Amino acid sequence: MATDNLASPPPPVDVVIMAAGKGTRMMSSLPKVLHRLAGLPLISHVLHTARSLQARNTVVITGHGADAVEAAIGGSGLQFARQMPQLGTGHAVQQAVPLLAGDGVVLVLSGDVPLIHADTLRALVAACAGQRLALLTIQLNDPTGYGRVVRQSDAVRAIVEHKDASDAQRTITEVYSGIMAAPAHALKGWLARLHSRNAQGEFYLTDVVGMAVADGMDVVAHTIADALQVAGVNSPAQLAELERAHQLRTAQALMERGVRLQDPARLDVRGTLECGSDVEIDVNCVFEGRVQLGDGVKIGPNCVIADCAIERGAVIQAFTHIDGEKAGVTVGENARVGPFARLRPGARLGPEVHIGNFVEVKNATLAAGSKANHLAYVGDASVGERVNFGAGSITANYDGVNKHRTVIEADVQVGSNCVLVAPVTLGAGSTIGGGSTITKDTPAGALTVARGKQVSVAGWKRPAKQS
Ligand code: UD1
Ligand code: MG
Repeated sequence: MATDNLASPPPPVDVVIMAAGKGTRMMSSLPKVLHRLAGLPLISHVLHTARSLQARNTVVITGHGADAVEAAIGGSGLQFARQMPQLGTGHAVQQAVPLLAGDGVVLVLSGDVPLIHADTLRALVAACAGQRLALLTIQLNDPTGYGRVVRQSDAVRAIVEHKDASDAQRTITEVYSGIMAAPAHALKGWLARLHSRNAQGEFYLTDVVGMAVADGMDVVAHTIADALQVAGVNSPAQLAELERAHQLRTAQALMERGVRLQDPARLDVRGTLECGSDVEIDVNCVFEGRVQLGDGVKIGPNCVIADCAIERGAVIQAFTHIDGEKAGVTVGENARVGPFARLRPGARLGPEVHIGNFVEVKNATLAAGSKANHLAYVGDASVGERVNFGAGSITANYDGVNKHRTVIEADVQVGSNCVLVAPVTLGAGSTIGGGSTITKDTPAGALTVARGKQVSVAGWKRPAKQS
């Protein structure tokens, strides 16, 4: 009924993320939740999702490696509560109680369950509606290790941890995902009554289910079919498995938008990859940070591309490494880069620019149609249109203390094996003879040669071997 929709607004959501556990099976000095999936710490995935719920408050429970975890994710709008020692999931959420208002819905998430969708969480919060205990559950063929959802004539009665479960209970295949939504005031009451008389001697958060039933509160299970969303990471093998499954979904999503992947199983996106139409990506490419590929862009095999915008029609050939880092990299329309090229932060290639094998470009602009096709370094430079930068030539941009700029005006031809000692300007249309070391500005239109004159000695006799 319409009047239902006009009832009181939904209660605010406060998120609690449990991230204090040791993660023993990772066998790592890095706290488990800081291990990376798709280039981001596990807990950052959870935080992104939580953020999209527009929660009022987000409390992260830290313990093992707390300093490192807080340093890695600290900042805007997060609160931390430390759990020392770590006495179980119930004990973890108890640490958040002083930071939680009584009027909201508390959504409990795990820092090691990275791929939960915001829509699933919204549905769980809606099922709670500020007045029920809502559990996210899933059917598993092999429920070993998980808390089982015990029902009586369909109604949820309790969650029993695997180690505490009877043989009959262990046959239950509906398991608790580790994620729940509960009215804050009721949750606080239950948490205060937890005990650790169980097989693991821990304070189980899952014991609140039995308490809710005893209090006469409705307990609802929101069951999903997608196991990936609730898959936890406990070991390197599980992390790798989740990484592949996640990458495959990313690849499928790209293909659904028309991107042609040579092999969806051989793509890694560690950030965001935005593609125009008719983009082709060959095998074994890694995309990091924010990468944008314009219409018709082709990426050859074995490229690593980070923080870069590649414009319409450009082709990146095999084994090219592009890293825009903070300054970014742009590759202009119909440019051709590689094979074996390296573009570093601040490289800005105009349209139709060609960068060939073993050429490095850093903090340099190359205007339309310029070419550096072989074995060159162009750093801290402004290169005009239609410049040809010869094989083996470099800008000497660093005097040991400071960096200086090289300006190459339009239509310059730099011969092979030149050293352009910055700061220096090569005038428009000038030609630099091969092997020159240029330390002074060159006049427009002139040929400049700066090397020892070639000398020939006629009738030269090589020294003979003395006996
Ligand atoms: C928990 C659930 C189980 C569920 C499973 C789903 C309990 C008692 N059991 O079991 O029903 O099927 O998740 O994956 O809740 N943590 C802390 N402090 C602690 C202990 C854990 O912050 O003292 C954190 C961990 O870092 C982790 C999360 O809580 O992020 C879950 O802990 P874990 O030990 O993996 O719980 P499970 O035994 O898997
Ligand atoms: Mg676990």
